[in-house]
Amino acid sequence: MKKVNIDLCSWPNIALIKYWGKKSGQTPLNPSLSVNLNRAQTRFTGQISVHDQKKAQLRLNQFEDKLQKKLDEFSLQHSWVNQLLLELQSENNFPHSCGIASSASSMSAFAKVLAFSYQSFFDERPSMEQISSWARFFSGSACRSIEKGWFLWGQTELHANTSDFYSVKIDQIHPSFSQLCDTILIFDDSVKQLSSTEGHQLMENHPQKNQRRQRANERLEQLLKALAEGQTEKFCHLVEAEALDLHFLMMTGLRPYSLLSGLSLEMIKSMWKFREEQNLFITFTIDAGPNLHLIYPLKNQNMIQRWLADHPLKDSFTCFEDTLGEKF
Ligand code: PMV
Repeated sequence: MKKVNIDLCSWPNIALIKYWGKKSGQTPLNPSLSVNLNRAQTRFTGQISVHDQKKAQLRLNQFEDKLQKKLDEFSLQHSWVNQLLLELQSENNFPHSCGIASSASSMSAFAKVLAFSYQSFFDERPSMEQISSWARFFSGSACRSIEKGWFLWGQTELHANTSDFYSVKIDQIHPSFSQLCDTILIFDDSVKQLSSTEGHQLMENHPQKNQRRQRANERLEQLLKALAEGQTEKFCHLVEAEALDLHFLMMTGLRPYSLLSGLSLEMIKSMWKFREEQNLFITFTIDAGPNLHLIYPLKNQNMIQRWLADHPLKDSFTCFEDTLGEKF
């Protein structure tokens, strides 16, 4: 029986225009735009073989039941996976619930495992669009983590060849954004009160649903221009407005909730003051949690690290240091 060895990695991405809310079939309410992290990774190792059962069978060291369930759903459209026995281990090198979307890195890694199996057993190489679409099935934001770089997911007239089913690469990125650092301040690493799945669901009847879609589209248009032309101040403004919009949407739904902490807000205010005093390129974004991604160019790294080391809140957070984009 043919067996293939697996040793594959993928990485998380951080959304600067956020995907929040779905249309049918795991397609997004609005287009989103993200960039990859480099140091944080998920690695899948193990073996895959073809078996004569009628159902895909997964053996995994963690989240086996959850992923097997998703794989069973996936097999309804992709019957070829039923021939596979997947004996795998997965491992993240970054802390769980730290503000880095582990589902994007693990589910994009899993889609790469499926793509490798497809190629090994059926002699056909799936396209990048296919792999992205498979990743989207397992977790929406994972479709933006198939390759490194800046990726746009969601059909829009603002860019050529976009789709609700897979992400496309944005190539027009000004050198001002080619060496960005991402220092993640972890205030709280406990599991969130409300999962992203529940958050997306709450957008279905959200009173701001249409306005949200419009705001995201307007910001996307401006962000694409800022990225292409090197408008760093505009970039900072848009990225922050999007992060705060995500949390505003959580607080203004029919079932309001908040994942922010007082410390996240303290730190945001402190960063604004520091930026104004020093006249530096630094901004923040936040995903569905309290932890803050501080984003700034490599040339400002020493100054920002010194500011953090002396910060009055320094005992309230731990840092995970990463970089963004493919050129790092
Ligand atoms: O891919 P999901 O279902 O875990 O949703 C991700 C949602 C955000 O991380 C908050 C935003 C995004 O676009 O990544």
